[in-house]
Amino acid sequence: MNNYFSIQDIDSLSDWVDEAIKIKKKPLANTTLGLGKTIGLLFFNPSLRTRLSTHKAALNLGMDVVVMNFTAEGWSLEYGDGTIMDQGNSEHIKEAAQVISQYCDILAIRAFAKLKNRTEDYNEKVLSGFIKYASIPVINMESATRHPLQALTDAITITEYKKINKPKVVLSWAPHPKALPQAVANSFVEMMQRMDADFVITHPQGLELASQITKQVPIDYNQENALKDADFVYVKNWSSYIDYGKVDHNNTAWKITEEKMKLTNNAQLMHCLPVRRNVVVDDSVLDSETTIVIEQANNRTYAAQLVLKKILEKF
Ligand code: CP
Repeated sequence: MNNYFSIQDIDSLSDWVDEAIKIKKKPLANTTLGLGKTIGLLFFNPSLRTRLSTHKAALNLGMDVVVMNFTAEGWSLEYGDGTIMDQGNSEHIKEAAQVISQYCDILAIRAFAKLKNRTEDYNEKVLSGFIKYASIPVINMESATRHPLQALTDAITITEYKKINKPKVVLSWAPHPKALPQAVANSFVEMMQRMDADFVITHPQGLELASQITKQVPIDYNQENALKDADFVYVKNWSSYIDYGKVDHNNTAWKITEEKMKLTNNAQLMHCLPVRRNVVVDDSVLDSETTIVIEQANNRTYAAQLVLKKILEKF
């Protein structure tokens, strides 16, 4: 594996999940694997979990870590080929990616969707640009359309917490005051198609994710119907793919409540975090024993550590 851009870079999912669970039991078993190697973490957007868990994962493998909040601290980048750079952008991605490749051995990047132009976002200008021009492996720490470290985390968490071989997993849209990208939902949908799960997506009509991602996954526009007998409820907001970037924050009826969780098979509630309490999901659910969001966030470290280990083993 050269880059970790999407979950398509995982060859055997069950082997990866098993190995991540082993890493979790002994996170300091490979403290020399990354000695003398540096990872650069570039953030074009805010982060808590991704930043700290990837940093910790690198430290667990003996790596050095350099972090840059690129939007605040870096030169604004130009991505176009042949652009006459007489406007606002100061540095071309061609030079930036090659220069960083001399300072670091692995590069990890977070660059969200701008939600203005669907074609631009789904072309993954930033991640694709770095992958094209960098001469080192690139890891996606959430790009415009994918969050594969989160999806690997989610696979690990469902494997750990499932009580039956083929659990019913429901991805439910929920309201949010801001327009959010589709990246987490896209990668989760792709991951569930690779897991042994009875998987259903529920959202209001008009909030369909890209059909090239959802493929044959059943979609139920009736949330209460979809939640029936669920073993896992993964709640997440996303803005419209069809009416690109449009936010539907008034749809408060889609919030996850205690009453709705009673329809499930005592389901465990998942969310990638951060979560808006009492907008996306009620306090009474988040503070109950059915919630595994903190345990889920803990697994971010082991997902990142596994990806780093796989890349380091190839050096
Ligand atoms: N789930 C997730 O990616 O969290 P952060 O945005 O805090 O990194």
